[in-house]
Amino acid sequence: STPPEPTARLSGDQEGIAEAAGLLRSGQLVAFPTETVYGLGADATDPAAVTRIFAAKERPRFNPLIAHLPDLAAARRQGRFDAFAEALASAFWPGPLTLVVPATEATEVCDLARAGLPSVALRVPGHPVARDLLQAFGRPLAGPSANRSGRVSPTCAEHVLADLDGRIAAVLDGGSTRVGIESTVVACLGGTPRLLRPGGITRAALAAVLGQEPETAGDADAARPAGPGLLASHYAPRARVRLDATALEPGEAALLFGGARPEGLAEAAAVLDLSPDGDLGEAAARLFGALRDLDASKAPCIAVSPIPKTGLGEAIRDRLNRAAAPR
Ligand code: TXA
Ligand code: MG
Repeated sequence: STPPEPTARLSGDQEGIAEAAGLLRSGQLVAFPTETVYGLGADATDPAAVTRIFAAKERPRFNPLIAHLPDLAAARRQGRFDAFAEALASAFWPGPLTLVVPATEATEVCDLARAGLPSVALRVPGHPVARDLLQAFGRPLAGPSANRSGRVSPTCAEHVLADLDGRIAAVLDGGSTRVGIESTVVACLGGTPRLLRPGGITRAALAAVLGQEPETAGDADAARPAGPGLLASHYAPRARVRLDATALEPGEAALLFGGARPEGLAEAAAVLDLSPDGDLGEAAARLFGALRDLDASKAPCIAVSPIPKTGLGEAIRDRLNRAAAPR
């Protein structure tokens, strides 16, 4: 095998986007910004290109990928939208929502990207660089988060390079992402829509559009993961993570929220506050960067202050719970 080429860093302007689209057309991997996290892009119609995603991320092949599209019309060619899916797409696209729907006969999203499932995960992102890239590329773009499997998702180009430098052709630099946590994943496969992963669109916002609460995945069978990729341990920094901490053990790093002052704070190995004002949107945007920064302190454990369960707090707590799960 040939030695790894260094990963090119492309600016998110016309020229960078044209170069990125060319690389994607030739089957290469290009990381790209979305408003949630950076995605690891490959041509979703090309099994050879999609194979490179699984290899670069060291991702198990049973875990299907999201296909990114420029608009709802393009999405309808890949998946069948029932009335719930139509309503959610109209309300939240472009934006941080992924819809899992039955794949159409004519779907171009290859079997490998769908992990052999009869459904397909579709998303129309809102980030201007992602939208321009999708227009320029003109095909469905497979895009899992651009981190190594099981690690913290990337919210800037530096995070992508920290995990994947030399493993991918290029990263399109669009600065720091606005939302900071991944899209909300909702399955519309008949009957009441199911919330598979909390994310940038809150449960309350979904319910307002649906006229009813979405079912929570795992409600029926809590032992089985809701989605093939929704394994308990995920988003893991090197350090252990301890939730709802109101006192620190010696040597721990502190991840605070809302100006919390846990006992023993003066002795902390490192301290960051996700949002001194207690703003959950700000906390979500800072979460993954904060986990990476506290990890760099080499503290064996990150103690996290209590975070509300409401609004974006549900998604923030979901990510922290996975980070805290036994490995
Ligand atoms: O914000 C995001 O969603 C980012 C950006 C790049 O778009 N992408 C992302 O992709 O988070 P990924 O692969 O890290 O997470 C996609 C999730 C996985 O948990 C996967 O198992 C689930 O969506 N998924 C994909 N296709 C599915 C399907 N057909 N049925 C059930 N779950 C599916
Ligand atoms: Mg991911």
